[in-house]
Amino acid sequence: MAVIGHPVAHSLSPLMHGAALKAKGINGACLAFDVTDPGGAIHGMRALGITGFSVTIPHKEAVIPYLDELDPDAEAIGAVNTIINRNRKLTGYNTDAFGARTALEEKTVIRGKRTAVIGAGGAARAILHAVIQAGGEAAVVNRTRERGERLAAEMGAVFLSGEELAAFSPEILINTTSVGMTPRIDESPVPASVFRTGMTVMEIIYTPPSTRLLKEARQKGARGINGLSMFVYQGARQFELFTGSTAPVETMRCAVHNFYTTC
Ligand code: ATR
Repeated sequence: MAVIGHPVAHSLSPLMHGAALKAKGINGACLAFDVTDPGGAIHGMRALGITGFSVTIPHKEAVIPYLDELDPDAEAIGAVNTIINRNRKLTGYNTDAFGARTALEEKTVIRGKRTAVIGAGGAARAILHAVIQAGGEAAVVNRTRERGERLAAEMGAVFLSGEELAAFSPEILINTTSVGMTPRIDESPVPASVFRTGMTVMEIIYTPPSTRLLKEARQKGARGINGLSMFVYQGARQFELFTGSTAPVETMRCAVHNFYTTC
C-alpha cells in the first residue's frame, strides 16, 4: 500500500500502517510518494497492482475522476482518503468521517448534542457528515462567512459567526482549521471563554499533539480529544479495507504516540 500527497514527508501513515502490518504478520509495506500528478499515480496503481492508496492533502478531491466507483460516505463528503484496488477496479472511500465519529464516541454521546465545527474546508465536510449521521445538532463557524454558509446549507447544518458561538453554547466543539498547528502554536481558533466543564473539545491537528485550544479547554474542565485519536481511527478503518483483517488499533496508537513520546 502507499500514501500519496504533496507534501507527504511529514505523514505518519507509513509508520502506523507498517507497525500494523508487522503486528498482524502480513507481508507488506506502506510507502509515501510525493505526488503532483494524482491521475498519473492512479494509472500507476492500476498498472502495478498496488492494493491500496491512502490519499492526503491536496489530492482528496482530485483523484475522484480517475476511480471506478465511490462508497456512499465518500460520495456524500465529496472527497476520498482511501482507494482500494480489487482486480483493477478502483473504489474510493472516505474513512475520515468514521475516524472522527469513533474518536468522539469513545468519550461522549453525539446524538442530540449542540456541536460546533470550526472551519469549512474538506476536513470540516467529513466531520459534519459524521456528526449529522450520529444525530448531532451541527453548526459551522468559519472566518469567511460565505464559505461557511455554503457548507452549512449543503450539509444540513446552521452557520454561526464567531460572535454567535458563545450563545449557541456548544456541548461539543471540533477544530478543523490549521490554527494552532506548528509553527503557529500560540494561536487558537476560538476564545477560551467558550469552554465549559463537561464540554468535549476535539482537535484534528496532531502537530503538536496538544494545542493551545486543547490546553485551554482542559483548564476550563472540558474533555479534550487530541488529533492523534481521529488519525488512528481513520487509519484503522483504512487498514481493514486494505487487508480485510481487523486493525490492531492499540499497536497503531502506540506507533504514532511513540513518535512523540513513549506509549
Ligand atoms: P482542509 O481541506 O484541510 O480542511 P482548507 O480547505 O484549506 O483545509 O480549509 C481550511 C479552513 O481553515 C477554512 O475554513 C479556513 O477559513 P476560511 O474559509 O476563512 O479561509 C480556516 N482557516 C485557516 N486559517 C485560518 C485562520 N488563521 N483563522 C481562521 N480560520 C482559518
